[in-house]
Amino acid sequence: MVRNYDPDRPVPPEVRERILEHALHAPSAGFSQGWGFLVLESKEERDAFWEAATPKTDVWQEWLTNMRHAPLIIVPHSNKSVYLERYAQPDKGWTDRAETHWPVPYWDIDTGFASLLMLLTVVDEGLGACFFGIPPEQIPSYRAAFGVPDEYTPIGAVSVGYRAPDHRSKSLRRGRKPVEEVVHRGRW
Ligand SMILES: Cc1cc2nc3c(=O)[nH]c(=O)nc-3n(C[C@H](O)[C@H](O)[C@H](O)COP(=O)(O)O)c2cc1C
Repeated sequence: MVRNYDPDRPVPPEVRERILEHALHAPSAGFSQGWGFLVLESKEERDAFWEAATPKTDVWQEWLTNMRHAPLIIVPHSNKSVYLERYAQPDKGWTDRAETHWPVPYWDIDTGFASLLMLLTVVDEGLGACFFGIPPEQIPSYRAAFGVPDEYTPIGAVSVGYRAPDHRSKSLRRGRKPVEEVVHRGRW
C-alpha cells in the first residue's frame, strides 16, 4: 500500500480504464457481479470525498495529509440484493432469499476480489495505491454527497497515483506470519 502520491501527475485515462476493466474480471458467485464503482477525479470530487467520508479527528486528518495528494479515488461498492435475486433464479433456487444460505457475505468478498485486481493493475502500470476503510459513521454523509443508492455499500476506498516518498505502515512491524503458522497440511 502506498500512502503518498505526486499531486501534479494525474493517472493517464488509459491506465484508469484498464484498472476499471480489470476490476470487472473478478470472479463472482453465480456471476452475480453485484458491485458498483464510483470514480472521483476532479479536485471538487476528491475534496468532497475526503470531507464526507473521513472523520475530522486529528488522528485521521494526520494520516490522510499525504493520501489527499492522490489524483484518483475509486470507491468499490457491494450490492447484496443482486446476489439474493440471482440465487432465487431457477438454476440456483433459493427463492426465500434467506441470508442464512450464505456461509460468508459473497457480495463483499467478490467486491474485494475486484479491488485486489485494481491494486494489481496499479502495480503492473508502475503506480501506487492504498485500500483503506470508510468508518461506518461516515457512510451516511458519503452516500448523501455522491447520491449512492441504499443497496450499495462502500467496502472501502482505493486511492491511486504515482508514488511519492512515504513511510511504511507501523503495522508492518508485526512482521509477515510464517507459512508454518497459518498453513495446515492434511489436518488442522
Ligand atoms: C480491508 C483492508 C483495510 C485497510 N484499511 C487501511 C486503512 O484504513 N488505512 C491504511 O493506511 N491501510 C489500510 N489497509 C492497508 C494495510 O494496512 C496493509 O495492506 C498492510 O499493512 C500490509 O501492507 P502492504 O499491503 O503494503 O504489504 C487496509 C487493508 C485492507 C485489506
